[in-house]
Parts: sequence; structure tokens; C-alpha cells
Amino acid sequence: MINQKNKDNKSQAIEINFSKYAHMYDKHAQLQKLMADKLASFIPSNAPEKILEIGCGTGMFSKYLFSIKVKKIFLNDISSRMIECMETKLCLPPYSQIMIGNAELLKFQMVDMVAANAVFQWFKDPGEFLKRLNSCIKPNGRLIFSTFGPRSLAELRKLGSLESPALLLSSNEWSQLIKEAGFTLDSFAKKTHKLFFTNTLALLKNLQQLGAAPTKMTSQRELRQLIKNYDEAYFTNQGVYANWELLFFSVKKNQ
Ligand SMILES: C[S@@+](CC[C@H](N)C(=O)[O-])C[C@H]1O[C@@H](n2cnc3c(N)ncnc32)[C@H](O)[C@@H]1O
Repeated sequence: MINQKNKDNKSQAIEINFSKYAHMYDKHAQLQKLMADKLASFIPSNAPEKILEIGCGTGMFSKYLFSIKVKKIFLNDISSRMIECMETKLCLPPYSQIMIGNAELLKFQMVDMVAANAVFQWFKDPGEFLKRLNSCIKPNGRLIFSTFGPRSLAELRKLGSLESPALLLSSNEWSQLIKEAGFTLDSFAKKTHKLFFTNTLALLKNLQQLGAAPTKMTSQRELRQLIKNYDEAYFTNQGVYANWELLFFSVKKNQ
């Protein structure tokens, strides 16, 4: 196992947040599960020999990688608690190797495929990271990933003038970064998904338990007002709703 210390404050905060709620991640991550199911359809039929998974978390997507015949799988995550939860839940194949640490700072071996489900929105500089990934992907290799688009939680952010703690790039912005990093877009999918919650408080708790609560909620009074306004504006007979924009990419390394 490789264990690397994280260096900057933002990634430390992300690590702390995910570690704090790691034990309840699977219960609340219905969206990430859905994304893992969809991203699995992007795994090429001619199985790559060596795979690197970035931000594997509790293994929601890793389980798909374990079901294919490969020689080596590197499993990375910044949070050791998320990895521990994966280890208690899944039987890790003997050819897997855990790499704990900030993927934006780690050095990786050459692989045939890199995968990342619902991870890159947490990165400081995804463009730079894609370039680095390109250099550790073998010729004809690929990168498959999913992330959240800017329409995710747009209602909540608008109503509360909140900032997303995650980086929500549009599909066009991702396409540009992909091109600049030396990849060619192979497949792309975009989905909008609506989730219902008993009330706004339940929605905010869900975000908190996923380490994704919006920032700049300065006072309790503001929070109470936001909950009231959101309950009024987005309540249906199924509860309050929130929309997420889900983006899926499969890209090939340029020759
Ligand atoms: C939304 S979870 C997704 C986990 C998993 N891929 C899944 O499908 O459920 C995001 C994961 O990315 C990890 N993460 C965030 N920033 C990271 C970084 N810079 N390097 C490595 N992992 C990171 C978090 O610890 C967390 O496990």
C-alpha cells in the first residue's frame, strides 16, 4: 500500500469530509451508484490489462472493475476511511494495489485505462490533471469518467445564493480540457436526474453526508430562511426535489 500525505488545505478539507461520513456514504450515495452503473457501460469489451481507478471511495465503481479479467488494478483515494469501508465490504482481488493520497499529487505507473466515477469535480485543476493522466496512459489507452454538470442543484444555489464546494464544469468545458490534454472524445452521455427528499432539511443533510454541502451559508437565520423558501418553491406530493446534471465521458489517448 502506498500512503501519501496531502499538502494543501482544500484537499485536506475534502479528505476530512469524506472520511467523516465514509461509514454512511453507501446509504446516501444513490446518485453516485446510478453514475457507476452508467459508467460501467463505458468499460471497453476488450479488457484493459492494467487499470487505475481514481477516487475509488467505498468501491461503488470498483466492483465493476473486479468483475473483468485484468492483470493489475491500482485503487486510489484521498480518504483512507473510504478505502477501509471498501475493504470491509468487498473482497479485493490479489492483483489490486491501494494508493492512498491526493491523486493530483501522486505519481502513477503506466496503465491501459484510467477510471473515475463522480470524482473530478473535487479536483483543484482538472485540466492539469488530465494532462498528467495522459502521460501515464499507454498508447491506445483510454480514460472513462463521470462528473456533475453546472445544472446540478441549480435551484438550491440560486435560491440561497450559495456556492458549490465542487467544480461544476459544462460538457463543453470538459471537451476543451480533454482536447488540450491530448485525448479524443470517444463517447459522451448527459443525463438529468431528479431526486426527491422528505423536505429541504433532508436534502441538505444528504449533501452533508456526501461531503458536498454548499458553502457560504453564513448564519442559522439564513439557513432557516433558505429551508423555508425551498420547501415552498420545490415541494411536490413526493417531497421536495433537486435536479442533478450527470456527465459521462470515454476518451482515447491521441496517437
Ligand atoms: C463522490 S465520491 C465517489 C466515490 C466512488 N468513486 C463512487 O463511485 O462512489 C468522491 C471520492 O473522491 C475522493 N477524492 C476527492 N478528491 C480526491 C483527490 N484529490 N484524490 C483522490 N481522491 C479524491 C473522495 O475521497 C471520495 O471517495
